[in-house]
Amino acid sequence: MTPSRLFNAGFLAGTLALSGAAAAMPDFSFNTDELPDDGDVVVYVTAGGGLGDLGRELDEATGGRLSGAIEVMEFSGEFGETLTLPAVAPFRQVVVIGAGDEALGTRDLHDLGGHAAMAADDEDGLAIVFDALDAAVDAAGAHLALGYALGDYRFTTYKTVDDIRDDGEVVLVGSGRADQRAFETDLGHLAEGITLARNLGSEPGNTLWPQRFVEHVQAAFEDVDDVTITVLDADDIRARGMGALMGVGQGSIHDPRLLVVQYRGSDDAPIALAGKGITFDTGGISIKPNENMWYMKSDLSGAAAVAGAVLAAAKREENVHVVGVMPLAENMPSQDAIRPGDVLTTMSGKTVEIMSTDAEGRLLLVDAVYYAQQEFEPRMLLNIATLTGSAARATGAEYAAVITRDLPLSLEMMEVGEASGEDVWPLPLHPNHFTQIESLIADIKNTGGSPGASIGAAVIGINVAEDLPWVHLDIAGVDWRDEATPTAPVGHAGWGVRFMDELLRREADQAQ
Ligand code: BES
Ligand code: MN
Ligand code: ZN
Repeated sequence: MTPSRLFNAGFLAGTLALSGAAAAMPDFSFNTDELPDDGDVVVYVTAGGGLGDLGRELDEATGGRLSGAIEVMEFSGEFGETLTLPAVAPFRQVVVIGAGDEALGTRDLHDLGGHAAMAADDEDGLAIVFDALDAAVDAAGAHLALGYALGDYRFTTYKTVDDIRDDGEVVLVGSGRADQRAFETDLGHLAEGITLARNLGSEPGNTLWPQRFVEHVQAAFEDVDDVTITVLDADDIRARGMGALMGVGQGSIHDPRLLVVQYRGSDDAPIALAGKGITFDTGGISIKPNENMWYMKSDLSGAAAVAGAVLAAAKREENVHVVGVMPLAENMPSQDAIRPGDVLTTMSGKTVEIMSTDAEGRLLLVDAVYYAQQEFEPRMLLNIATLTGSAARATGAEYAAVITRDLPLSLEMMEVGEASGEDVWPLPLHPNHFTQIESLIADIKNTGGSPGASIGAAVIGINVAEDLPWVHLDIAGVDWRDEATPTAPVGHAGWGVRFMDELLRREADQAQ
């Protein structure tokens, strides 16, 4: 062990991080009609400032000052509009949030919950009054709580002094047993899955390397039923012929791993989810410039999202068979590292000439997808990866790029995205993209032509059976947020957990 490893923060902080110290979820309380006598309150209103019965009761408690303020401030009640009213006796603070005038779906409710988390203070507890909402779905209170949990997320593992605020109890006033059940058996687990992904994506490179990633995931799945976790170490990876994954990881003192988490909630053939897990991407010998390189600590966002999505499905005991395949490596320059011009042999036997060691994600995945097909014979395969800056430039922070072999599948994925709150937009995959990666001395090269998102997908595609429904998500533009949304504070978004969660709900075996 080198001295720097002995004294880095990870060596000291490892157990702390594993204990889940990062961002505990608030303590939600359901199934009550009881309004608070004081403290902090959030109240939702419809367009025009309309209150529900409980809202009117709240207004009475303030002697009409709440409705008065809504009127004086000309609060329109438009969706997401927020008005903070301090010292509305007897309350310390009342936050009024507009919900517009349309029936609300799950995604709207998550956003509204997130707006509450962004605007309100729950340190000494918080009551949320939501009976004015016109929800088009059941268990609206549970969906609000999920959105609240997401908007409330902070990564505080390495804060030692300031900025650590405890969450008090968050009471959903007017919620019933159905809300409680939906949160405790389902949506709370989705929040946990997203939190896991965000925690993994926020950990710096000196505290998270392949084996550490494995340990975090193993800890998260402790005591979850019907789950099998398999970890291939460097010897196994070599023995299985995964020369591309091995090649990417060979420059680092931290060996690569292949982590597989299988949840068997049905007897159907599985859905395979393969996520890129580069614990830090320096670019390797094709080294990146320093500007924004810190952010490559999140180059494992795909694998993190896969872990989170499988966790949520397994914990709610979804009737679905899913396999998460997470190839993990650190991309470092060293005398052991692969070089441009090197040739690697993938698990299928196909060879790849390395044109850039910075195009490493596709190398991990070209082995992972082959392994997934060989080992599990999935009925559908989805990749998720922070693969290219080009995808980020094309689809921005609003959409992840989706690439498939046939447009109808991409359009189906747009629907999944729309429903989940994580939107995707298609980019093409043309035979020409495969021509562009022809190599002079190997079967293919890892980048070529005008390098972009489609070229990255084509490299992975050489090891994906033509007749297998295959979805490739390039999340390089969406995994980290520079600006907050209601459900994603600045920082790691955990993008993909909700998307894959929605996909798994749709693919669940309804017969059971
Ligand atoms: N991890 C990066 C992609 C990335 C870039 C993610 C920016 C998030 C933000 C990936 O490994 C990479 O370096 N891709 C190269 C590919 C190129 C060398 C063909 C890129 O996009 O520049
Ligand atoms: Mn790279
Ligand atoms: Zn990368």
